[in-house]
Amino acid sequence: MPALVLLGAQWGDEGKGKATDLLGGSVDYVVRYQGGNNAGHTVVVGDQKYALHLLPSGILSPGCTPVIGNGVVVDPSVLLSELSGLNERGVDTSKLLISGNAHLITPYNITVDKVTERFLGKRKIGTTGRGIGPTYADKINRTGIRVQDLFDESILHQKVEAALEYKNQVLAKLYNHRAIVTEQVVEEMLGYADALKGYVADTTLLLNDAIDEGKVVLFEGGQGTLLDVDHGTYPFVTSSNPTAGGACTGAGVGPTKISRVIGILKAYTTRVGAGPFPTELFDADGEALRSIGGERGVTTGRDRRCGWFDAVIARYATRVNGLTDFFLTKLDVLTGWEQIPVCVAYEIDGKRVEELPYSQTDFHHAKPVYEYLPGWTEDITKAKSFSDLPKNAQAYVKALEEMSGAPISAIGVGPGRDETIQVNSFLS
Ligand code: GDP
Ligand code: IMO
Ligand code: MG
Repeated sequence: MPALVLLGAQWGDEGKGKATDLLGGSVDYVVRYQGGNNAGHTVVVGDQKYALHLLPSGILSPGCTPVIGNGVVVDPSVLLSELSGLNERGVDTSKLLISGNAHLITPYNITVDKVTERFLGKRKIGTTGRGIGPTYADKINRTGIRVQDLFDESILHQKVEAALEYKNQVLAKLYNHRAIVTEQVVEEMLGYADALKGYVADTTLLLNDAIDEGKVVLFEGGQGTLLDVDHGTYPFVTSSNPTAGGACTGAGVGPTKISRVIGILKAYTTRVGAGPFPTELFDADGEALRSIGGERGVTTGRDRRCGWFDAVIARYATRVNGLTDFFLTKLDVLTGWEQIPVCVAYEIDGKRVEELPYSQTDFHHAKPVYEYLPGWTEDITKAKSFSDLPKNAQAYVKALEEMSGAPISAIGVGPGRDETIQVNSFLS
């Protein structure tokens, strides 16, 4: 069982950090394959809480080698401050490996992200403002700067100059923004080179060798299925592929090497930023989910939009990712509701629809069709096995499993590592 993908099945913040950390002790490598420091992954170990943005959550497991794959976009200043923050807390980060082919988020990418959002006004995406979209745009436009460029000053200078030649025109003429000076950017980027050099490696070669040797490799997604640029609620998405295929391109590992794909699924739904969200609640229930679930963004501090569980989305995640398992998180947050609505289908312009519509217009018109499942009041945070759960909580999990199309192999009943019910092993 050497290579597993662990990814978000909804709109991000499903609890991927916790799930990765849980497996961290049993895997040899944890690899981020897309996204950047738009991610905020929370890991709680004992009384210590960590918020990771760019580093794979496996960094907290001493036996595990964390890898930043080629598909990630790296803000070097964020990376270095995240590393030093962990070092100050006694975490050894010396094993980290970074792909030389990963793209760098430059200061001008962050500027473009911010001015573009401002320009869009009420049509904005609600990005994290971390320069993610513009950096991926440069990659696809073939004007990006890669980690390896830090080690060749002449190439770095040429590439930054070429990128700014165009961008400064746009910044000045469209956004009324002052020009960005090539030399300043190059100097700043070169300032990171020495600190990063020791981490840079041919991660594709290394990961393929590791898999061939029978080592266990876990690919940790950022964001979630519905934020995927191809399969999500475009244009209200991030600019990468968090879905399972992204692990192959973002790490340089072939699909035949992936043996298991685990979807992290919250027992209700949340979303940050703009875009459609059929089960969103604007009432006291939504407020209660937000406060009980602590639904505030780890990266931007924004309140997360909250709503009931949406089985149409879960089924869709099973389909586009080829999920073999779900890890259902935050079941404990639902304790106390007399009955819990679950969206089983949509009504779109008077018709019942069972599958996620491909049409953006239809999805905007989708109204949830709810089934009401009986709730429970017993504290479930100490449950260690499925049979410890109250009957109605068991029935809720079973109903979700049936609707979602893949087995629920683990259940989160609290944020801590040990607050997990393991139903089936992920590693057998
Ligand atoms: P990620 O981005 O997918 O890693 O998720 P976030 O860290 O942004 O948000 C998930 C939040 O839920 C974090 O605060 C976690 O500590 C917390 N969490 C994860 N699993 C559980 C769970 O089963 N129960 C509870 N109550 N909290 C959880
Ligand atoms: P984790 O890994 C939730 C959202 C932003 C915005 C959209 C585009 O913690 O689950 P971007 O800055 O990526 O261009 O923003 O994507 N977004 C996330 N929402 N969790 C995340 O990461 C997210 N990363 C990006 O809010 O709507
Ligand atoms: Mg998060």
